[in-house]
Amino acid sequence: MTLFTKANGVRAMLCLVGMWVLFSAFLSYIDNKTATYSTFSRLSIRHVHRFAKTVNVSSDSYSNKSSKGNDILTSGNQAAQLFDVGAQIVGSSLSQQNNISKKYNQSKNGIIRTIKNQYSVSLKYGCKEPQYDENEGPISPNTTLESLDIVEAELAPLLKPGGSFQPHDCIPKDHVAIVVPFRDRYAHLAVFLRNIHPFLMKQHIAYRIFLIEQTNGRAFNRAALMNIGFLEALKIYPWDCFIFHDVDLLPLDNRNLYTCPRQPRHMSVSIDTLNFKLPYRSIFGGVSAMTREHFQLVNGFSNSYFGWGGEDDDMSNRLKHANLFISRYPVNIARYMMLKHPKEKANPKRYENLVNGISKIEMDGINSIKYNIYSIQEFSTFTWYLAELKIVDQTS
Ligand code: BGC
Ligand code: MN
Repeated sequence: MTLFTKANGVRAMLCLVGMWVLFSAFLSYIDNKTATYSTFSRLSIRHVHRFAKTVNVSSDSYSNKSSKGNDILTSGNQAAQLFDVGAQIVGSSLSQQNNISKKYNQSKNGIIRTIKNQYSVSLKYGCKEPQYDENEGPISPNTTLESLDIVEAELAPLLKPGGSFQPHDCIPKDHVAIVVPFRDRYAHLAVFLRNIHPFLMKQHIAYRIFLIEQTNGRAFNRAALMNIGFLEALKIYPWDCFIFHDVDLLPLDNRNLYTCPRQPRHMSVSIDTLNFKLPYRSIFGGVSAMTREHFQLVNGFSNSYFGWGGEDDDMSNRLKHANLFISRYPVNIARYMMLKHPKEKANPKRYENLVNGISKIEMDGINSIKYNIYSIQEFSTFTWYLAELKIVDQTS
């Protein structure tokens, strides 16, 4: 009996193929265990490996700004540059935009009026705050679940890469970085982007959405992610206003302007899940707006709050310590809807942190944060950062 029969050859081949399949499965398992993946991979958008090369993010060149971030008058050259931006968009994708506009018109988002406004005026004046009378204020967000890919495709023609926007018919006065701390809430993200862009595009501001995602492995640190968003956003453009925004909150009124007034502004005053009532006076969570100067003055947020709660109260204490006041729109304007999610487990150390907070302002904040950025990517509707925190958690 010989070993080298045809049947044995086939068996040996099958055996080798089987071993190869098992070995690849094993490698992929190890890879999954050790790699820092973008959680977006679950949405099959992108798959990002640990130590992925960072890409260059295009810097925003809003031509009416001096390098210090002060508004300056538009010279002929700058006006021409601005006109170029508008012309490019009109030339390349106006028909696409019309289709999109129709869709939005059907969904009563009022964006068609914005688009018309954008192209009906060719002279560039300083933007004026949009005016709405009482019945034009309230809006109902579209909360139907949609894949991020579809939302991106719908909005892409209206935006510049990275989820940035600037009005085309006037010179924006406000340059606003919208910083969104993020982990795990994919469905919320799509709903958020779908609603926030049309809402912001009507406000005559220049803005960009920065999504800061924390890598897996440690408790969520909302405040540290917002500090990272602040620092990273300033590498792109000297924004004068920062709006820190939970991904699950949707504004319900057009009169709620995303700008930074003279004092820090708490935006999410009345939330549906809290019966449209302010829970307590010093609250600064949910959505809040601060100028770059004020944020720097208080050294940003504390990095010490891992897990849910307290980090916004700590900021509130920092503001008070710096003799700043929390300003607010009235409850009928600063209204929000919160998307549903299970209640987070509160961090039991938050009160202890709060007590020690004031004495740590100078050494705990944007001047002390340590982090790695594994990946930066410009999606059509947001600029995404995958950040690993390197903060030593002394309290939990
Ligand atoms: C927490 C805050 C939170 C607020 C409202 C407080 O107890 O410390 O972080 O924003 O409750 O939910
Ligand atoms: Mn929430």
